[in-house]
Amino acid sequence: MFTKEQQLIEAKIKEFCAANDIPLAELKWQPIPFSGEWGFATSFFQTAANEARAGKGGKPVPQRAQEMAEQVKGQIGSVDGISRIDAVKGYLNLYFSTAAYASRVVDEVLASGLNFGRGAKKNERVMVEYAQPNTNHSFHIGHARNTILGEVLARLVEFAGYETIRASYPGDLGLGVITVMWIYEKLYKGQEPEGVHERGQWLAKLYVEATALLEKKDNETPEETAQREAYDAERREMYRKWDAGDEYVRKLWHETREWSLEELREVLKMLDVKMDVWFYESEVDEPSKVIVDELIARDIATDERPTGGAVIVKIDEKLGLTKEKYRTNVILRKDGTTLYLTKDLALAKVKFEKYQVDRSIYVVDSRQALHLQQAFAILKLWGFPQSEKCYHLGYGFVSLPEGAMSARRGRVVLFKDVADEAVKRVLAVESEKSGDVPADEREKIAYQIGMGALTYSMLSVDNNKDIVFDINEALSFDGRTGPYIQNAYVRANSILKKSKVEGQKSDRGLSTFDYELTKHEIELIEQISRFPQTVEQAANEYRPLVMAAYAYDLANAFHSFYHAVNVMQTEDEKTRNARLQLVMAAKQTIENALRLLDIQSPDVM
Ligand code: ARG
Repeated sequence: MFTKEQQLIEAKIKEFCAANDIPLAELKWQPIPFSGEWGFATSFFQTAANEARAGKGGKPVPQRAQEMAEQVKGQIGSVDGISRIDAVKGYLNLYFSTAAYASRVVDEVLASGLNFGRGAKKNERVMVEYAQPNTNHSFHIGHARNTILGEVLARLVEFAGYETIRASYPGDLGLGVITVMWIYEKLYKGQEPEGVHERGQWLAKLYVEATALLEKKDNETPEETAQREAYDAERREMYRKWDAGDEYVRKLWHETREWSLEELREVLKMLDVKMDVWFYESEVDEPSKVIVDELIARDIATDERPTGGAVIVKIDEKLGLTKEKYRTNVILRKDGTTLYLTKDLALAKVKFEKYQVDRSIYVVDSRQALHLQQAFAILKLWGFPQSEKCYHLGYGFVSLPEGAMSARRGRVVLFKDVADEAVKRVLAVESEKSGDVPADEREKIAYQIGMGALTYSMLSVDNNKDIVFDINEALSFDGRTGPYIQNAYVRANSILKKSKVEGQKSDRGLSTFDYELTKHEIELIEQISRFPQTVEQAANEYRPLVMAAYAYDLANAFHSFYHAVNVMQTEDEKTRNARLQLVMAAKQTIENALRLLDIQSPDVM
């Protein structure tokens, strides 16, 4: 927002340092929060420290830093738009007149609109992998947390300026998948339900039923034991045929897999997620075997098959670590089958080579942390420089409070059930209080609010912590909730509708804040101005929570302003105009923040 002034000052600092042979450290700017004025600051400590390290200077670092700040200040003289320059404790502080700063912020938001806060293009490509449940399992609330975190992270890095690829990687092979196919073939062939969600959920039920049939029980009779073993032999035979590429079994596999994927695609649509790339575990199985050979040939992996063992990677030893960190892991079983880890190596290779990814983010359950650290370590041994920019965004467990919906379907809490329930509850309230809104409009709003509540509750907790999802709390209009933030947007919208300024902002010219701002206005302007740096921070640290917390603070500032300042009854027309423009800027910033959080902004509520 103040890049022009910053660049000008930076040029003067560089000129000064060059002339005096001072080794200037990287210049970092930080905003000075309002205390009668707004400003920006940069420090000379690092530069003074560099100079001391180079054996020059001869003064204590703090004293030298202050000296530089003072000298630079003397060099700069006066700059257009900057009201005052201070050199204090090694810092150079630049201050703006409050009116100039306020209108700069507001005008910038209004000029940029949906692009307010967007970062400059970065020359790096990021892949975010998320929404990758195993097929033949229904989409539960934990998967929803995964998907929301992944989508928000993708939106953040994309908005921060990175080229972004969204990828999914469903687990579509293995014993679990075969188990469902076995029972389907044996007992349920041709009985699949019609609806997309019903069919997906039905497969999960078949899995539970099959597992019970195949599980060894206490006190089995000899007949029961024989029965179970016969079932298991059938299942193993099916697995063997699948492996051998048997046409019939492969067809059955494709068909049932598609039912799971259809449900997944439907859920992604509900969450407004558009995947760019679909990887499948089954597709990297064969390529991963070739990788095993390569790793053996390059002495990264150890082949213990000749002595009856497996193929392993002694990760710690190969990395030269003396303390146990990544341990040793198997990458090929004795029987020649690959493991989850092997396939992750093949997947990473595709990401790096085919998709030319510079940074690779994995949104995966925290319990898989060691697995992913091992994979990244092997990628490093293998020689991929991108391994340094692989990042695991882990997340904790999601449960419902005791006694809530969880009982209905056994232990799994289905996302669809929770989402439907949230929307239903909002609709009941909406129908009571806004009977005049047409039914389809009401339904749309209820959907926006219900999903917003659910989504925000998955984002407002640190990703590593567990969540107990309380639907009543999530739907509340008070506190750290989606609806609380959406309501700030709605209130801004209603002020603007009443004033009829929407759509004519260009006629109003630039904003003028040359009156005494209330503390609520100051706080609101300050929050709005923080948005671009918050985008940058959340994206760089891969932390959706940073944006979620910001959106709450921004909404909070707006609600306080709304209660304290009556915009429409402001007598002085110029002041009223400025305030309306501030409301417009707040509305825009809330919308941009909500959009990054994958939450919609309802017009009314
Ligand atoms: N399908 C796996 C699961 O449900 C998650 C996949 C994580 N991604 C990866 N590249 N390993 O546990």
